[in-house]
Order: sequence, then structure tokens, then C-alpha cells
Amino acid sequence: MDRTGRGVAVLLVHGFPFDRTMWRSQLRTLGRCERIAPDLRGLGQSDLGIRPVTMASYADDLARILDLCEIQTAVICGLSMGGYVAFEFMRRHRERARGLVLMDSRAEAEPPEGRLARDEMARVAEREGMRPICERLVPRLLAERTVRTRAKPLEHLRKMVLSAPVRGVAAALQAMRDRADARAWLGTIDVPTLVIVGAEDRITPIEAAANVAESIPGAGLAIVPGAGHIPPMERPELTNRLLADFVSRVS
Ligand code: MLT
Repeated sequence: MDRTGRGVAVLLVHGFPFDRTMWRSQLRTLGRCERIAPDLRGLGQSDLGIRPVTMASYADDLARILDLCEIQTAVICGLSMGGYVAFEFMRRHRERARGLVLMDSRAEAEPPEGRLARDEMARVAEREGMRPICERLVPRLLAERTVRTRAKPLEHLRKMVLSAPVRGVAAALQAMRDRADARAWLGTIDVPTLVIVGAEDRITPIEAAANVAESIPGAGLAIVPGAGHIPPMERPELTNRLLADFVSRVS
């Protein structure tokens, strides 16, 4: 886990199949708040522990991390799978959330074809390791501009995906496959919320993110130009500005 800075706590929850280092720019330069970036169970440097892993168990882990850090409330900021975890966190630990930032995330449960694709990806990872997953996934994650002009995020992304622990990846795939449909409880979210999405996100199109924003009372929507699925890595300065404005509003 990385923990740095002072002020309102912001819990940064990574996507799949990434780890806490995807928040490097936020850890380094997002000012006037305390940033806490854990590795989700089984990913990065976190042990897998008991299985099955579910969105609920990831969410309970986050609450335990806040306990360990002696933090009562935090802004919960999740990207994609991190957003699925954030929905569960809101359901189970609402009193610990001071605000919610959902990046490039959607609220629907996995459709039947998606469930099959998750199982297939887990089989490939277990049989052949992360390289074929990396080749398949990474080109779809970034905006064209990022691929053309920014070698660093691409390299970092490839490294993260290639080094992701296979057992943790398989567990995360199962958790995403079985995740609940969060649409039913979006209307009950009553903390300040910001939805962010990359203008060129091919995994979570703008409409999916906009649906989330429309369903949460008072939520804002910010579209990040020149970013695909991972605005905090692709457009870190702009993403940090959005986050800093949001955090100053909930302080
Ligand atoms: C992520 O970035 O966490 C994934 O794209 C989520 C997903 O595959 O649904």
C-alpha cells in the first residue's frame, strides 16, 4: 500500500488487471489530500488469501485498510473494476464514504457473453500466463493520442499487466463475472459524486458512464479529452485537476 500527503483522505482503487502503481501521478502530485493506494487482494503485492474473492470482500478489505490507517471517512475513487468495488463499498460501508469518484466504470452486472469471456480469459491466463492477455487487452485500453505521443504510460501499463499474479487475475475475473447489478442502488447514493470518463474509452463508452452519473442524485460528469480507459495515467494533470476540485468541495 502507498500512503502519502495530508488532508482529506482519498482511497484510490485500481482497475483490472492493474495494481496501485497506476496511481503514480496522483500519489506524486495530487496536492492537499492524503492519498492511499492499496493493491487489491491477489493483485500487485497483496496476498490472495481466502477465496472466492468477491466485490464485497474487496470492499470489506478497503474498510479494513481505513481502520488500519485510523481513518474514519475517505473519498472513494475507483477506476473501472475499482468502481465496481466502490459500488459495493457504498452498499456495505456507506458511513465511511465522504465522497465518491467513479472513473471509467459501469453499473450493470456482467451480461451472459461477458461471463463466458471472463472464464475464457481466466483459462488462458492459467494456461499461458499474462502475455496473451496483455497483447489482447493493452491496445484497447489507451486513446490513440496516448499510444502516439506518450511512451511511458504504455510501457507502464504493459509492465503492470505482464507482472499481474495469475491466481489473483483469475480471482478478479471471477469476482467481475459474478458482480451484482449496481443500478438498483445508484439512486440511494447520497454523498457528493463525480463520474469521470475518457472521451475515447472503448471499454466503458461515455454513454455507460453518463448513465451512472444520471442515476446518482447530484452527480457530476467530466469527460477527459485525449484519454481512453485510464485517464489518471493518460492525462494525469487534467485528471488531478478534476480530483483536486472535487476534493476541495468535499473538504
Ligand atoms: C478494468 O479496467 O478494471 C476493467 O476494464 C474492468 C472490466 O473488465 O470490466
